[in-house]
Amino acid sequence: MIQALINNKWESINDNNLLLGTDTFSFGTGLYETFRTLEWKPIFLEPHLDRLFNSAKIINIKIHYSRSQILEMIQEVILNFKDPNQRVRILAVPENFIIYTSQLNLDPKIYEGVSALTVSANRETPDVKTTNYKVCLKAWEKANDSGCFESIFLDGDGVVLEGSRSNVFWIKDGKIITRENNVLPGITRQILILRSPFPISFGLLYQSNFSDIDELFITNSGSGVIPITKVNSEKIGTGGVGSITTELLRLYNQWLHENC
Ligand code: PDD
Repeated sequence: MIQALINNKWESINDNNLLLGTDTFSFGTGLYETFRTLEWKPIFLEPHLDRLFNSAKIINIKIHYSRSQILEMIQEVILNFKDPNQRVRILAVPENFIIYTSQLNLDPKIYEGVSALTVSANRETPDVKTTNYKVCLKAWEKANDSGCFESIFLDGDGVVLEGSRSNVFWIKDGKIITRENNVLPGITRQILILRSPFPISFGLLYQSNFSDIDELFITNSGSGVIPITKVNSEKIGTGGVGSITTELLRLYNQWLHENC
């Protein structure tokens, strides 16, 4: 059981009822947002709320709270939790607006490079972060079972879409590239596009080109920038974390602290 703020009231709820993509998830189709805290301060919260409200319009979910009410609720949930570094989740589902948090628990080893595998899959509504999460969960479990950190989705033509819980960037000849469409407009992706001192352009990466790129990394709000050094059985670049990814990791960490 965990404590969650449900429609602005504290309730004890079985964690299984909140597990996206499982048969135990006990709410209808809706939206979710995940963000982290640093020293009890929410990181890049405003763009998460922008995405939540925009997506609510797209899929026609009614959010019965104003932005300032939501900010107050979030603050209450964060301050009620013992750990300063948290992964906070908002669920906007029919009839219920739920906020809960848990320990962030990042493994520092991931920043030394992780492995990924590719799967042929896609999310039905890529622009929107919906609770229809079965495809993502299945792909992530497949990665986990193979000792990989993430699954990278490929479309029917073998072109990279996004990760099961991340956006994908690659670097070739000093240029950073990410996919423009048919992916979640990730908040971490957006922060990088706006702030990276190295220009980021849009493009496509074919599975057959993993061997030609120099660096690869994924982004999400929980873990930030995560270098990928191996895809399937193929080493990326030299097999270590490249210099541009290293600099972006350093900068992202700096931005997190500035946001506090
Ligand atoms: N997932 N693409 C998908 C399919 C995702 O699920 C996520 C995030 C991202 C990255 O978005 P952002 O930078 O806004 O976190 C891209 C979150 C972390 C989750 O599943 O909880």
